[in-house]
Amino acid sequence: MNLADAIRTIPDYPKPGILFRDITTLLGNARAFRRTVDELVQPFAGRKIDKVAGIEARGFILGGAVAHQLSAGFVPIRKKGKLPHTTVGVEYALEYGVDTIEMHVDGVAAGETVLLVDDLIATGGTAVAAVQLLRQAGADVVGAAFVIDLPDLGGADRLRAVGVPLQTLVG
Ligand code: PRP
Ligand code: HPA
Repeated sequence: MNLADAIRTIPDYPKPGILFRDITTLLGNARAFRRTVDELVQPFAGRKIDKVAGIEARGFILGGAVAHQLSAGFVPIRKKGKLPHTTVGVEYALEYGVDTIEMHVDGVAAGETVLLVDDLIATGGTAVAAVQLLRQAGADVVGAAFVIDLPDLGGADRLRAVGVPLQTLVG
């Protein structure tokens, strides 16, 4: 089974001209979901990972499973205004304008080792902002894992350039 075949592509979602990589078909396929989690974890298995940080929204589904497999805790990184307790935030650039991601102020402790997880890396704007947020809190971001890399958009290179090793499964 090829993981790429379990991912559906939706043309013109959410905007005309975008080919949206829809992982709901992969998540709904028990074998594909298990293999995805096994492969995301593989480079980090046996390492000391205190927490997995999952990026809203699909990073929550994958990150929860990865955290369970690594016997790590889970910390959600969310869009602005969604978390109930005191938060810390980082602004990042979108194609037009800016957005903010947030984490609870006590989401990670200084010195904790953290693995970042999301479904997809495109420009890397979201992931680089998440790394900044985690590092500001004193975390040691030991790696990042994504199901899909869109290499033409340069996100994986941007993340490597800030010193984060990456696992990606489908180009
Ligand atoms: C998507 C994806 C990543 C981000 C990648 O999330 O799940 O989080 O975009 O893009 P980047 O590398 O260019 O920053 P989306 O904005 O669709 O948010 P959602 O998961 O809340 O729907
Ligand atoms: N799927 C999910 N998230 C995304 C995509 C996509 O194709 N492109 C940019 N962010």
